[in-house]
Amino acid sequence: MKVLVIGSGGREHAVAEAFARSDAVSKVKVAPGNAGIARSFETLPLNNMEQQLQWCESNRPDLVFIGPEQPLEQGMADRLNQMGIPCVGPSRAAARIESSKIFAKRLMQKYNVPTAAFFHSYSLDEAMDYVADSCPYPAVIKADYLAAGKGVIIVQNQAEAEDALLQLLANSSESSPKGVVIEEFLQGWEVSLFAVTDAVDYVTTLFSQDHKQLLDGDRGPNTGGMGAFAPVWEAEPWRSQIHQEIVEPILKAMREEGCPFAGFLYCGLMITSAGAKVVEFNCRLGDPEAQALLPLLDTDFYELCIAITQDRVCSLNLQWKDETCVAVILASDGYPGSYEKGMPITISSPLYNRVYYAGVAQEDGTLITNGGRVLCVSALGKDREAARHAAYNDINKINFANKRFRRDIAQRNNKL
Ligand code: AMP
Ligand code: GLY
Repeated sequence: MKVLVIGSGGREHAVAEAFARSDAVSKVKVAPGNAGIARSFETLPLNNMEQQLQWCESNRPDLVFIGPEQPLEQGMADRLNQMGIPCVGPSRAAARIESSKIFAKRLMQKYNVPTAAFFHSYSLDEAMDYVADSCPYPAVIKADYLAAGKGVIIVQNQAEAEDALLQLLANSSESSPKGVVIEEFLQGWEVSLFAVTDAVDYVTTLFSQDHKQLLDGDRGPNTGGMGAFAPVWEAEPWRSQIHQEIVEPILKAMREEGCPFAGFLYCGLMITSAGAKVVEFNCRLGDPEAQALLPLLDTDFYELCIAITQDRVCSLNLQWKDETCVAVILASDGYPGSYEKGMPITISSPLYNRVYYAGVAQEDGTLITNGGRVLCVSALGKDREAARHAAYNDINKINFANKRFRRDIAQRNNKL
């Protein structure tokens, strides 16, 4: 079988590698990929969705895996389905569960899925009135559009809320109104769980945990994710509540609203004293959660994906290695703001673990930095400490000027 993976980050590198492990797969290509992925897989220089769709039309891959949210929001899965090419990833209508926070929050409200209480508006004036008069603090202000993990601002008081609203609604206009959600700040600890679903049946993965903030101790600005690990056994007591109160009702809601969700439903959860609550849903695998989960998966990834496309998820029984995986991101100086590019990447001695490349390019045969998140080292170990040790051992061998990384991945105290 020939598989095409759409995307260019570390997640797509990990996905490509998972497909390559399948006996059923003879060829994995990545479009557009990056210079690091190109060291292990054929990459196709197809930089936009139309080019990728044209290539698919001519080359008829057996399966397309859509990694990032943008092409899903643009309806790539719908277009592939029209062509009769099997693909993993939800329709444009179903991808709204990620691309519109207002859609997601209203759906959760309607179907009684536990989440933070919220207010929403498309009007800056109305939102300004709310933060002045009735908003409890602290509060969380979220843009109603895709913002690569950077559209969420936690505010302690009215003045901060007003600044946040001005920032998030800066380009809002009557012709293209932007919305905002202002929600209750949830106390607790965060964990991610993926539901693998054909829109009716589902199985869930191991729990994983992202580290979204830039600096050690969960300080600094939010990023796309600075590292992750799996499994998070501390979350297991909540699994059945999450299935019953979150996954099952939201899949039913999507069916009833006429936008059934098939693919990987990312449940971003807060474990609170009142149980697990939804922080956000995403319509895809997480980055870097995928880099921590996929190395642990023993089930054939191609078979898993085909079960999604053929409505056979009820026959899946996911098998995982009895180990821990720690994934640490190396980022460029300045990220998540504007960052440096073009720094040569050197590796001082042999690496023992997987490296998944993200923001890299090639110059004179050498890899150079070319993005905010540059690469990810994913290491397996018998427990968290062993996997951490292995990951950081390799991180220390990989160098570029002003490299940035967190030193505390997988050291969270997951307690209420
Ligand atoms: P989101 O993009 O909605 O996942 O938000 C990004 C991050 O902001 C989350 O991973 C949380 O760390 C934090 N966050 C979002 N919503 C809340 C909330 N209601 N209470 C506390 N923290 C939140
Ligand atoms: N790790 C968070 C995300 O993929 O959005």
